[in-house]
Amino acid sequence: MDSEQARTWQVQRFAQRQRFLPSHTCQEESLIQMKEIVKVFENAAGKFTALKGVTACFDAGEFVSIVGKSGSGKSTLVNMLTGIDHPTSGSVRVGDTYIHQMSENDMSLWRGANLGIVFQFFQLVPTLTLLENVMLPMVLVERIPAAERETRAQALLEMVGLGAVAEKLPAAVSGGQQQSAAIARALANDPPILIADEPTGNLDTRSADEVFDLFTRLIEQGKTILMVTHDPQLARRTTRTLLLSDGELINPWIAAAFPEMGHSQLLWLTHQMKPAVLGRGARLSNLEMAPGLLVVSGGELVIGDARHGEREIQLEAGAFLCAEDLHTIAEQGLQVSAGAAHGCELLALDEAAFSAWLQHDRAAEAGLERCGSDFNLRWGMGV
Ligand SMILES: Nc1ncnc2c1ncn2[C@@H]1O[C@H](COP(=O)(O)OP(=O)(O)OP(=O)(O)O)[C@@H](O)[C@H]1O
Ligand SMILES: [Mg+2]
Repeated sequence: MDSEQARTWQVQRFAQRQRFLPSHTCQEESLIQMKEIVKVFENAAGKFTALKGVTACFDAGEFVSIVGKSGSGKSTLVNMLTGIDHPTSGSVRVGDTYIHQMSENDMSLWRGANLGIVFQFFQLVPTLTLLENVMLPMVLVERIPAAERETRAQALLEMVGLGAVAEKLPAAVSGGQQQSAAIARALANDPPILIADEPTGNLDTRSADEVFDLFTRLIEQGKTILMVTHDPQLARRTTRTLLLSDGELINPWIAAAFPEMGHSQLLWLTHQMKPAVLGRGARLSNLEMAPGLLVVSGGELVIGDARHGEREIQLEAGAFLCAEDLHTIAEQGLQVSAGAAHGCELLALDEAAFSAWLQHDRAAEAGLERCGSDFNLRWGMGV
């Protein structure tokens, strides 16, 4: 790899990382706030904890994808928002409404007016035409005046490209068209938020792209969309990705730093890496621990040569350094310090824990294969 290639590669890596970067931590003004959500399912076989204290917030206008292996808790999480299910503990607020406290009746009225829900298997009423399917939520919620419902339903179907087949039954159109009709139905009462659980899971690539493009247009119109997906290509095109593993959220900075790492290793790091802050210009050696792995989670970390000021590399949020990198840095007589402008926020794992982890978990090593050996290439530093 020559230095130009190395630079391009580095830029691509950062671009890829961006998708995991949280726009912010939870704020009071977030449109949707899910706090410490625990969900325990109980059945004859015993208890199963599907969500283990998930906290997540979403701003108005965000297009967020929710990814994770099958069984990681994606549907359970979005069902807490739609009110299809209730948390065992924790709170869910949408706008000013605490929905985890609502009765079933209030919830279904609130949901009809405020959320559009799209499922993998469309769930259109088979005996109603597409037009009637789209009108149905308007009839249930009674927010759109009766005289306007048909015109509005027709306009929504036209928006999703189904104007000409409005009078057909669901079975008479393709899967992609059924899903488009289901999206039109979700928009019937003009809800600000759309929640979609694998909306493209049952579609061919072309139809999936069309549904995704439709979502993109809705975002441009000011909607907020949360979309569960198994498709990494689609997830990459959303503005932010939440990664669930075993009922917990992976720290987004850790997910960003190690895109090739397995989910259980990412979860282990999420549990073990501790936050640390370095003030403006402070040396890394000021940390109380000897780090084996560092992920930048805010501000900048600067690798510089005290003698030749021009050899300076700035690591931004989502970048990482491992023990081998740190040894190379020390060997080359370089210094690592927090940026002079903002200081630096880090997630750090101490060296002993890091090397013990690498010894007992081979998969961890695979996820870190760029560590150390290609340090100079990685940061474009010639020795
Ligand atoms: N009603 C239920 N009773 C018992 N266990 C449940 C129930 N619903 C879900 N689970 C369990 O909770 C875990 C999370 O399920 P969930 O459906 O949220 O996963 P998911 O990430 O949406 O998976 P998929 O990608 O397959 O849709 C799974 O282990 C599942 O078996
Ligand atoms: Mg699911």
